[in-house]
Amino acid sequence: MAGKPIGVGIVGTGRISDLHAIEYGRNPDANIVALCDRDIDAAEARAAAWGCADAAILDDMDALLARDDVDLVEILLPHHLHLDAAIKAVEAGKAVSLQKPMCLSMDEANRLVEVAAASKRPFKVFENFIFYPPVLKARELVDADAIGTPLSIRIKSNPGKSATAWEVPAAANAWRQQKAHSGGGPLVFDDGHHKFALAWHFMGNPEAVHAFIGRTETASGSVLDAPSIVSFRFSGGRIGNLEVVYSPELEIITRHYAQDDRVEITGTKGVIWINCGHGRLGDPPPVALYRDGQITTWHDLATGWEESFVLSTRHYIDVVSNGGRPVLTADEGRQVLRFALAAEESAQTGKPVEFGPREAA
Ligand SMILES: NC(=O)c1ccc[n+]([C@@H]2O[C@H](COP(=O)([O-])OP(=O)(O)OC[C@H]3O[C@@H](n4cnc5c(N)ncnc54)[C@H](O)[C@@H]3O)[C@@H](O)[C@H]2O)c1
Repeated sequence: MAGKPIGVGIVGTGRISDLHAIEYGRNPDANIVALCDRDIDAAEARAAAWGCADAAILDDMDALLARDDVDLVEILLPHHLHLDAAIKAVEAGKAVSLQKPMCLSMDEANRLVEVAAASKRPFKVFENFIFYPPVLKARELVDADAIGTPLSIRIKSNPGKSATAWEVPAAANAWRQQKAHSGGGPLVFDDGHHKFALAWHFMGNPEAVHAFIGRTETASGSVLDAPSIVSFRFSGGRIGNLEVVYSPELEIITRHYAQDDRVEITGTKGVIWINCGHGRLGDPPPVALYRDGQITTWHDLATGWEESFVLSTRHYIDVVSNGGRPVLTADEGRQVLRFALAAEESAQTGKPVEFGPREAA
């Protein structure tokens, strides 16, 4: 883009904002012009750490939305605040990138889809996993027919401990422990959004979702929704699952959250493994393909988890500057949310949630 850089306002300068700031800070088409957090010290500290000396520091979102130099608003708030914040930002005429999950219920999601459809600016639900370079490679292989028709996706979320993980402030865990603020459990609903997005990305919308969600109290007193298993059925008898296992003594190599993620996609003639996500176990190839008696591995993919944020953000800057369709759209965010909410509902009732043909399409 040759014109003026997009003015970016970030609302919520908590833990994850550091990864959003990377691309906004270095892309010549964007410029962070305002930071807002009810904890003004946090916003000031982030502005200093990111080298945004000229950015306005605010503790009131309305003041940020009133600024003419803010074109794009990045919303990084606890989940129960997403709906109102996103509606206000759209109504203020801003391009909006809203962190996942877009909101807490299908009624709220329906409202946001309507609001986004009426907006003149692109509205994005921020989901990073589908921009993670190993996932992009796997998708390229699937699209090139490397494994034939995908028949099953198996996803594993495996949190543990890590000497190298970043610090997560107690406040960021506290709201996640309250269902009214988070919408569901930290592993199956909150982190699960990424895994349901992966399943949706490779297999489409599910026809049915069936979940067992366990409960484990950690040494620090947090409650984790593990061990858990969520099964999915897709059209044509294709299947998948998400398995969540907390291994308290498993050392994970990471600079971010103490969690390993593994994915296996089985097709009619081959298998793909994605061997890392938030962190990793040792040094496996990030992507491996088995087909026709041979294993092919890819070692040279960027596997820093921040890369998924960089690429997702770069995509949105491009859409806001040059036009195009954001990934995820509000409607796609609603599809992933429906998937995640179905797992919570199924675990409550003990029954599968079956979707009608329109929802599963
Ligand atoms: N994509 C990912 O992989 C990923 C990872 C972590 C978090 N997230 C998402 O990012 C969002 C934020 O998560 P986080 O871990 O950074 O949480 P956090 O608790 O660290 O940060 C939230 C920030 O919002 C601020 N805040 C709360 N209420 C406010 C208000 N009314 N006005 C202004 N500021 C307010 C808090 O002071 C805090 O600094 C959530 O949607 C979460 O699901 C996504």
